[in-house]
Amino acid sequence: QSEIIHRNDITGFRKKSEEFFPMAWYRKMLEDEPVHYHAGTDTWNVFRYEDVKRVLSDYELFSSKRDRTVTAVGTGTEEGSVPDRLNIHSSDPPEHRKSRSLLSAAFTPRSLKAWEPRIQQVVNDLIGEMGEEIDIVRDFTTPLPIIIMADLLGVPHKDKLLFKKWVDILFMPFHQENAKEVNKMKEKAAKEYFAYLHPFVVEKRANLADDIISDLIQAEFEGETFTDDEIVRMTMFLLGAGMETTSHLLANSFYSLLYDDPKLYGEVRSDPNLVSPFVEEMLRYRFHISKMDRMVKEDNEVLGVKLKKGDMVIAWMSAANVDKAVFEDPFTLNIHRENNNRHQTFGNGPHFCLGAPLARMEVNKAMRTFLETFSHIEPVSGFDLEASLQPSAAGQALSRLPMKVRR
Ligand code: HEM
Repeated sequence: QSEIIHRNDITGFRKKSEEFFPMAWYRKMLEDEPVHYHAGTDTWNVFRYEDVKRVLSDYELFSSKRDRTVTAVGTGTEEGSVPDRLNIHSSDPPEHRKSRSLLSAAFTPRSLKAWEPRIQQVVNDLIGEMGEEIDIVRDFTTPLPIIIMADLLGVPHKDKLLFKKWVDILFMPFHQENAKEVNKMKEKAAKEYFAYLHPFVVEKRANLADDIISDLIQAEFEGETFTDDEIVRMTMFLLGAGMETTSHLLANSFYSLLYDDPKLYGEVRSDPNLVSPFVEEMLRYRFHISKMDRMVKEDNEVLGVKLKKGDMVIAWMSAANVDKAVFEDPFTLNIHRENNNRHQTFGNGPHFCLGAPLARMEVNKAMRTFLETFSHIEPVSGFDLEASLQPSAAGQALSRLPMKVRR
């Protein structure tokens, strides 16, 4: 298992809300030190748009095979780790092509089209249950991606939060002091998850259906296919990649509608064509858990500093998203900017998020249906942001967001 580096050692944030919206820090780093060596963690950190793009996409110089990382994936045990030959997250082309092709079988445009009505149904069901005072995190932004993933995997989802209890543990951030303890919990969760999922995969091999597990069973690349065991471990990776990220984007979008610009709700509601640019601007402006690391493959100076083979580089995508070289007036929320979909929140290059079309479809449908249903939303007085944030695998996330709604 890779050594985990703690982001806060680099940023030095003292409050959770600073990490939730680190614009002042990004601005400072972009202006003062866009390529920053941090001695405490022995990492290079890049913030500019072009540098981030280079680090993420130039796999000949910057490798995804690393022995240190800012993101914890799985547990390192047999049940909890991604199988080597399918290690999409930590491989470079040409090997990466194999795992990517195998996994892509489950994410074709055809699948996406077939999933559309199922996603819409889940959205409708959750919105249908809402009263006049809701906690959007509890009632919508947390369960939605979980139920959708369970549904698309082809696993029953009577228990809405079934996957959450495992995923929360499997991708739980930890520190040096509690690493042992957390690892124990992770091993247990991985075992439980494995025991739960495995029979479904075996059953589906006999009765293929229209779902991700069945797609993975049928996936083939250069004569290779997935074993049942590998499919279970792959679904665990997909839950890690797709649940928290999508929840975070949705929850932050509601936060923005309530607190960044109270007129925005009415404006987006008045024109359904504004939903998509709104979501893209949220990915640019309100998604701050976006950073990815690479290991230097060969000595080079492409970032203007001397990088040595084995050095670690962290690309801060959320900072690149407010680089004024690309985005005009970048610290202003503006759903009308023409290039807001140029954000790098889904990455860049060969590892560009495989689930981006799914995430975009989910969040667009969720927002659009919510806007159609509710004419008005407003904050609940006394909401305390700092007390409502909790650390998640990738950064600070809203644990609650109460609001009042009118149909
Ligand atoms: C990769 C972000 C949702 C599946 C990535 C990467 C980013 C990202 C930045 C690139 C990692 C790298 O460069 O090493 C996001 C965001 C999401 C989201 C912001 C939601 C707002 C999803 C969903 C799924 C998914 C819903 C599928 C269920 C994947 C997979 C990869 C990936 C399989 C690995 C691709 C590869 O390494 O070739 N995601 N993701 N993601 N994402 Fe997402």
